[in-house]
Amino acid sequence: HRKYAPFKPIAKKDRRWPDQTIDKAPDWCAVDLRDGNQALVKPMTVAQKQRLFDLLVKLGFKEIEIGFPAASQPDFDFCRKLIEEDRIPGDVKIQVLTQARPELIERTYEALAGAKQAIVHVYNSTSTVQREQVFGLDRAGIRDIAIRGAKVVQDFAAKYPDTDWSFQYSPESFTGTELDFAAEVIDAVNDVWRPDQGQKVIINLPATVEMAMPNVFADQVEWICDNIRYRDDIRISLHTHNDRGCAVAAAELGVMAGADRIEGTLMGNGERTGNMDLVTMAMNLYSQGVDPEVDLSGMAEITEVVEACTEISTHPRHPYAGELVFTAFSGSHQDAIRKCLARRKEGETWNVAYLPIDPSDVGRRYEEVVRINSQSGKGGVAYVLERDYRITLPRWLQIEFAKVVQREAETNGGEIDSDTIHRLFEERYLKV
Ligand code: KIV
Ligand code: ZN
Repeated sequence: HRKYAPFKPIAKKDRRWPDQTIDKAPDWCAVDLRDGNQALVKPMTVAQKQRLFDLLVKLGFKEIEIGFPAASQPDFDFCRKLIEEDRIPGDVKIQVLTQARPELIERTYEALAGAKQAIVHVYNSTSTVQREQVFGLDRAGIRDIAIRGAKVVQDFAAKYPDTDWSFQYSPESFTGTELDFAAEVIDAVNDVWRPDQGQKVIINLPATVEMAMPNVFADQVEWICDNIRYRDDIRISLHTHNDRGCAVAAAELGVMAGADRIEGTLMGNGERTGNMDLVTMAMNLYSQGVDPEVDLSGMAEITEVVEACTEISTHPRHPYAGELVFTAFSGSHQDAIRKCLARRKEGETWNVAYLPIDPSDVGRRYEEVVRINSQSGKGGVAYVLERDYRITLPRWLQIEFAKVVQREAETNGGEIDSDTIHRLFEERYLKV
């Protein structure tokens, strides 16, 4: 039984892309403890990191980037704590970030010593602007940094044979990189790692800065999928940021364009405008009848822990999670929702006006804020009388009395409280 109907896609013959729907959740990687943390005014303490890590595990995330241990002592200490105190469930892989610099890679492996399994995530910047203005290097120079990094990652992995290693490479600033050059660097890294010979490899394409419309990003992803070697032996991951407010859209289109895996953070915390919001994307899939393979049914706990760890409050209109997102203010919305809910039968596909999902699926309930003013309809006025005074009006009286209330509101302006509504009702219909 599907509670949510997938939005009716365009007929196959009219589609530009073969796959204009997502029918399976991508692999998720939560980067709250690394990218999210590095963007906080006050970085998380080890205790806060532990609390957020435990939440991510509880929600079902199987790949979690826990920090940049070679760059930060608290990140190093947190990594050691997780490993030494055996706090990583057997089906969860921790991931750590490092620049493609030998001394940092060495320190990264020290942080990971003793892990049962781990992903070493190595990156260097590849975009034109970074090449020319930050590093003063040409394409070959940048490609060599990536190749050297890949070799050092591989060599150190061999020194820790008891760990099941995966390698991840990010051409940082991918969205500002010429596609042929990005493909050249990715191929060169994979020539070192040889995913075709059994090495587990993730190639992560970051929209380090979101620079174009999400469909353009998806075209870049599609081009890379079509033009790199070893495509069938690796996972393509995306890491979108939200500079243009489209990180979720870019990730969704990117999955349709061929990506297997998505990196993001709960509520979208991250550098500048943030990372891709895992909550929104997962719930978007859910609302289309696709199992997100993470459990977001306890949204109150999620927002509480995220707020406590990041010290950033959740916007009241944050999709699926905000305080106000299941609240209707308008009388006509309330009226429509009441009718749909009254007619709804248990087990039916969800089809309720103004409520894209059943609030109870994220542990919430629908709420009405009935504020009566000159814009309110009959439904709102009737609801107030019923709720506060147990007076049920027949439909003809609802229509008539709503006009009385409306006239009063127009004369006095502003909002009319429920006592006034009751007084007007008494004056007109109950007093002899
Ligand atoms: O945004 C970015 O490019 C990153 C990389 C290090 C993956 O966070
Ligand atoms: Zn990032």
